[in-house]
Parts: sequence; C-alpha cells; structure tokens
Amino acid sequence: MLVCDCNDVHYDTIKRAVQKYGDNVEAIIEACDAGTACECCLEDDCSKVELPLPLAIKKALAEI
Ligand code: FES
Repeated sequence: MLVCDCNDVHYDTIKRAVQKYGDNVEAIIEACDAGTACECCLEDDCSKVELPLPLAIKKALAEI
C-alpha cells in the first residue's frame, strides 16, 4: 500500500519504523522520508496515496 507518492514509501516501511519508534511521528518521518516533499500524505484525506501517513501509523500501531 502506497503511503507517500513523492518519496515512494510503502506501508511495510512505515510498519517497520513504527516497530522501532512507536507513535513518534517525527522519528518515523525522519526514518522513512514520508511526507517530506508535497506534504499531502501528512493529511488523512490525501487523495494521492492509498494510505496517508497518519492512517498508516494508526494501522501499524494496531497491528504490532
Ligand atoms: S505524497 Fe508524501 S510528500 Fe508528497
């Protein structure tokens, strides 16, 4: 599932970052580069991606 279109970041990468950093959004962004270009994917309703970053983090936290 695509989480950040600009930097081609997918859900599996986010999940690994959440396993390491928990709900520390800044650390997750720094680790995987999601949300560092147009910033659309930082918003829940971003239509450029399948799973915007806040929702991807929420999903990963629920799964780990
Ligand atoms: S879609 Fe993530 S920074 Fe543009």
